[in-house]
Amino acid sequence: MHSTQHSTQPPTILLFQFLCLLLSSLVSTAHAGWGKSKVESHSSPYPLTSEHFLIGILTSALVCVASLVWMVVGGGKVGGRRKVNVVLVGCGMPKKSMGWYHLTQLLKMKNVNVIAVVEPFFLGICTDVPPQFSTFMSDLSKNRGIKFVKSISDLDDFPPLTMVLLAARTSDNPLLFEQALDKGAKCIYLEKPGAPTVKELERMKNLAISRTVPCRVFLGYNKNVTRYVKEAMEFSAGVESAHLEFVHNNAYKKSELVECFTRNSEGMLKNMAIHELALLVSFFDVRVDTVFKITVDKSKSEKLTLGGITDFSKVSFQVTTLAGASATVTADRCAGTVSFANVKGGGAEGKIVKSFACPTAEETAKVEAQKKADPEIMEYFLTQSDDYDMLKTNVVRAFADGTDAGDVATIDVAIEALKLAEFATKSLMRQL
Ligand SMILES: NC(=O)c1ccc[n+]([C@@H]2O[C@H](COP(=O)([O-])OP(=O)(O)OC[C@H]3O[C@@H](n4cnc5c(N)ncnc54)[C@H](O)[C@@H]3O)[C@@H](O)[C@H]2O)c1
Repeated sequence: MHSTQHSTQPPTILLFQFLCLLLSSLVSTAHAGWGKSKVESHSSPYPLTSEHFLIGILTSALVCVASLVWMVVGGGKVGGRRKVNVVLVGCGMPKKSMGWYHLTQLLKMKNVNVIAVVEPFFLGICTDVPPQFSTFMSDLSKNRGIKFVKSISDLDDFPPLTMVLLAARTSDNPLLFEQALDKGAKCIYLEKPGAPTVKELERMKNLAISRTVPCRVFLGYNKNVTRYVKEAMEFSAGVESAHLEFVHNNAYKKSELVECFTRNSEGMLKNMAIHELALLVSFFDVRVDTVFKITVDKSKSEKLTLGGITDFSKVSFQVTTLAGASATVTADRCAGTVSFANVKGGGAEGKIVKSFACPTAEETAKVEAQKKADPEIMEYFLTQSDDYDMLKTNVVRAFADGTDAGDVATIDVAIEALKLAEFATKSLMRQL
C-alpha cells in the first residue's frame, strides 16, 4: 500500500511564513545599512556584524511565535486540514449495507483519502457475487485507485493517520477490530453496537488502549448527533419538570416478526433500542451502577416467543437513576417509519408539550422523491444521511486535530449502553 500522508501546512500559513521570512531578511538587510554612511556600509567585506546576526535571530524567533499564534487563533486549523487515510472494512452490498453507504459519503469528504476496502464475504467465501458489487468494485479500483481485498491481512501496515471504519456484521467485528489494530489503526469508527457482548467490547477497548500509541474508538450511534433529539433536549430545558420520552419505531408487519426475531436474535434492546440507551448513557448519566429502577409500561409492551426466540415486539420503560434523573424509552417493531422525541411537562405522567419527529413531513417528502429516483436504496440511508455524515465529519476532524469528537459516542459509552441493554432486558423479561 502506498503512503498517502499529505502536507500538514495549509497554503495560507505557508504564505504567511514566507512573507514573514521575507520581511525578516529585509529588516536585517536594511538594518545593516541604517545609521551608516554609504562609505561605511560598503567599507567592510562582511557587513553582517554580531549585532545584525542577533537581529536576524530575533526576527526569526518573532516569525515562529507569530506563526504559532496564527495557528492557535485559527482554531488548530493546521491539523484540521490534514488528510485522514481510511480503510473501510465490511462494504457489503451496494444500496443495502451500512458499509457501502459510509463509503459513498467518505468518497465525497475532502479531508479523507480512502485507500482500501476490505470485503470479507463477497471477496471471500461467497460463490455467487452479485454483479452490483463487482461493478462497484471495478469502478472504484479503476477510477479512484482504491484497493479491494478480502482480508485486512492482505494489506500492508497502515500509513500514519489511518482510520478504519468497521461496518461488518456485529459478530465479526471483534476479530476484525483486533486485526485493524495490528496493522496500525490509530482511530476506529465502529458500527454500533460494536460487538455482541459487553465482555467482547471491553476486551476491544483494552486492546485499543494498550497500544504504544493508543487507538481512539468511536461508535456509530447516530441519535447522539441527530437533529430531533437535540431540538427536544434544548426545548426541555425551558419546560417545568420536563420528562423526555424517546420513541423508536420500525415498520415491520406482524407477519414479518418471525424473520425479524431470527435475524436480530441479539434482541430488541441490543439491536434497536440500543440507540436510545446510548442517549441515556451520554446525556442522562444512566449506567447500570447508577440505575435506581426500571419501570415497564405494560400497556405499550408485548413479549412474544417466535421461531424459538423470546423477544419484545414492543416495549416501553422508564429508567430512573439514584440521582433522580429519568427518561423513557419506547420501541415498537410495527409502528411505522417515524420516530419521536417527546417532551412532557409535569414529569413522566404529564402531558406531551411538544413532539419532535424524525423524519419530519418535509423530510419525508424529500425522501419520497429520492426513493423515486433510486427505488433500490435502503430508506434509512436517506432519512439518516445527515446524521451519518455528521458522525464521520466529527470523528475525522477529531482524529486529525487530536481534539474530542463532541457528542459522538466513545467505546466507553458503547460499553455502558450494552451493559444497560443486558441489564434492562433481564429486568423487563421478569416484569412482563
Ligand atoms: N448506525 C446505524 O444506524 C446502523 C444501521 C444499520 C446497520 N448498522 C450496523 O452496521 C453493521 C453492518 O450492518 P449491515 O446491515 O450493513 O450488514 P450486512 O450484512 O448488509 O453487511 C455487513 C457485512 O456482512 C457480510 N455479509 C453480507 N452478506 C453475508 C452473508 N450472506 N453471509 C455472511 N456474511 C455476509 C459482508 O462482508 C458485509 O460487508 C452492523 O454492526 C449493524 O449493527 C448500523
